[in-house]
Amino acid sequence: MFKTVEWKKTGVVMIDQRLLPEKEVYRTYKDYKGVAGAIKDMVVRGAPAIGVSAAMGVALGAAKIKGKDIKSFKKEFEKITSLLASTRPTAVNLFWGIERMKRVVEENLALSIPELKKRLIEEAQQVYKEDIEINRLIGKHGGSLLKDGATVLTHCNAGALATAGYGTALGVIRGAVEAGKKIAVYADETRPFLQGARLTAWELKKDKIDVTLITDNMAGYIMKKGLIDAIVVGADRIAANGDVANKIGTYSVAVLAREHKIPFYVAAPLSTIDLNIKHGDEIPIEERDSTEVTHMKGRRVAPLGIKVRNPAFDVTPNKLVSAIITEKGVVRNPYKKGLKALFAK
Ligand code: MRU
Repeated sequence: MFKTVEWKKTGVVMIDQRLLPEKEVYRTYKDYKGVAGAIKDMVVRGAPAIGVSAAMGVALGAAKIKGKDIKSFKKEFEKITSLLASTRPTAVNLFWGIERMKRVVEENLALSIPELKKRLIEEAQQVYKEDIEINRLIGKHGGSLLKDGATVLTHCNAGALATAGYGTALGVIRGAVEAGKKIAVYADETRPFLQGARLTAWELKKDKIDVTLITDNMAGYIMKKGLIDAIVVGADRIAANGDVANKIGTYSVAVLAREHKIPFYVAAPLSTIDLNIKHGDEIPIEERDSTEVTHMKGRRVAPLGIKVRNPAFDVTPNKLVSAIITEKGVVRNPYKKGLKALFAK
């Protein structure tokens, strides 16, 4: 089985997701700048995987801090965390992972510098371990919402590749399969970065889960034909009112789901819920390079000089979301109350 991201003695090791499915190449990052570059360049992607990688990047950077006293340690530590925080704006898990590492420093100021460095490495490994456990719980809660024999449509990749392992949306599918249900999946290819075609199709096929690939513009047709029983997607950030930012195209899928009366589920850990953001309009949406739209596999497919938009995420309003599946259970409308209550559990 592949590993998305892993802490090893040699450094932080990641499977290069840009090269999948053709090549399985693992890269080792020995410093935090390398990890920051890997997040920015999409070697690793997917909200929880970004959070875990950021925590590991912080630990890696901290381990190499030269300062011998806490004041100079904190100065260098700040440089590390701000570079990692500047990599991608939408997935709140990035900031969550960094904040968790910052808290370790603040709560352990009395430790010696070598002890503090050791504590940070342990914390990053803990974040990794917890992520897999959380996804298994999401899978358990969400798996029970899917009927035996169901066909599920998913968008982007919210699988093992987007997390430390198991996945959120694909975790729900894996949870149902592990409970003995027969589940089939339709995977949207997810233009322009093709996370569905390259990653979801790859990991489900590897797991021998029945998967059919479609282009994004086929989803409406397939739903109208009555072929889809449920939609399950992941999230990059969920606002306090339940509005969901996820991969561009998710909103269109949610509108289609409502039209065809198909339940639209969002699977995400609590680390994706941002109670500081009241509604979806406040979520920063990453705008990526225009070549992702004008080119395919390095080859231009649009006229030279054409105007392009390339927002990487969109926001699905809470009214289109049938339920949000978390490690602490399933929340339905009214989301404001339900999401807040999760943090008190
Ligand atoms: O740009 P990406 O590939 O990082 O976007 C990933 C997504 O939008 C996923 O659906 C989301 O992060 C959930 S992953 C469990």
